[in-house]
Amino acid sequence: MAVQRRGHVKTADTSSIEKKIKRGIVQRQSAPHRRYSVPLLLVLIGTFIGILVWLYTKWSNDNTDALVSKGEILTQPRVFTVHCSEDYQKYKHFPGCTPTKCGRAVTDSVVTTAEAQILKRIAERALELGGSDGGASILDLHSGALSMGKKFVNIYRYFSNQIRHIFTEEDFELYREVRGRIQKAIAETFGLEPSKLYLTKPTFFSRINSTSAKTTHDEYWHPHIDKVTYGSFDYTSLLYLTDYDVDFGGGRFIFMDPNSNRTVEPRTGRVSFFSSGSENLHRVEKVAWGTRYAITVSFTCDPDYAIADPSFP
Ligand SMILES: *[C@@H]1O[C@H](CO)[C@@H](O)[C@H](O)[C@H]1NC(C)=O
Ligand SMILES: *[C@@H]1O[C@H](CO)[C@@H](O)[C@H](O)[C@H]1NC(C)=O
Repeated sequence: MAVQRRGHVKTADTSSIEKKIKRGIVQRQSAPHRRYSVPLLLVLIGTFIGILVWLYTKWSNDNTDALVSKGEILTQPRVFTVHCSEDYQKYKHFPGCTPTKCGRAVTDSVVTTAEAQILKRIAERALELGGSDGGASILDLHSGALSMGKKFVNIYRYFSNQIRHIFTEEDFELYREVRGRIQKAIAETFGLEPSKLYLTKPTFFSRINSTSAKTTHDEYWHPHIDKVTYGSFDYTSLLYLTDYDVDFGGGRFIFMDPNSNRTVEPRTGRVSFFSSGSENLHRVEKVAWGTRYAITVSFTCDPDYAIADPSFP
C-alpha cells in the first residue's frame, strides 16, 4: 500500500516537472524574436571577427615553421645555411673542419628505416635494464653511462657478465657504419675533409616519455647551444628512431631563430645535423605522450677530444 502511494506521488511529481519543462520549451521557442535584436547581432558578428583576427595574429606570431615535417621524405639533405657565430673563434682553428660555413641539414637517405629499427631495438634492450625516474633516459655506448633512477651506472661494469646478451658485435658494427655515413654527409654538406672530423663525447641513445623530470638530468627541453654546453662540439647530429605523431606527441626539435622557431619533426631513420655554435640555438619540445627514441652523435675538429668507436670492453 505504502509502496503504491509513493508510486502515485512520484507520478504526480513527474508530471508537474514535465509541465514545467514544456513551459520552458515554449518560452524558449517564442524567445528568438525578442532576443536576436540588431544590436545583439552586431555584437556577435564583432566577436566572431575578433576571434578570427586573434587566431590569425596568434598563428602568424607563433612562427613555428616546419623546416621538415614528418610526412616529407628527403632523398637528399635539405640544407639551410645560417651565419656562423663567433663561438668558434674562441677555439683553435682546424682547417678543413672548423665551421666557416654554418647551418643545418635534414636528410632521410643516410640511414634506412630498417637500420633505424635495429638501432631502436638496441636502445630498447639496453634502456630496459635501467632508466631514469624522470622521463628522460640515456645510454652512452662509449662510456657505458646508463640512466638509473636518479643517477647513472656503467652498463659495462654493472652488467659485465650479461653484456654479450645485450649487445652483439653486429650492433657495434652497425653503429660504426651509421656513424661513418653521418660523418660523410656532414663533410659533404659543409665542404669538409671527412677524415678531419672526429667522434667526440657525449654521444648517446636517448629515450624520452612524458613522465615528469625528477632531476635536472631529465630536463631536456631547455634552449641550449651545444658548443657552449660542450666546448669540444663542432657538429652535432641526431638520428631519430621513432616517428613524431605516431610513436609520440610533442618532442619536435626546434631551432630558435631571432624571428622564428623552425621545427624538425622526427621520423624513423631521419638524420639532422648542424654546426654546434650559437647560430643553432635549439630545444626539444616536451614529449606529451608515447616514447621518443633518438641517437645524438657529436663531432669535434680537435683531435685531442676525439674518442674511439664504441666496442666491447
Ligand atoms: C616512462 O618510462 C618509465 C620507465 O620505463 C616508466 O616507468 C613510466 O611509466 C613511463 N611513463 C609513461 C607516462 O608512460
Ligand atoms: C619561439 O619559441 C619560444 C618559446 O619556445 C618563444 O618564447 C618565442 O617567442 C618564439 N619565437 C617566435 C619568433 O615565435
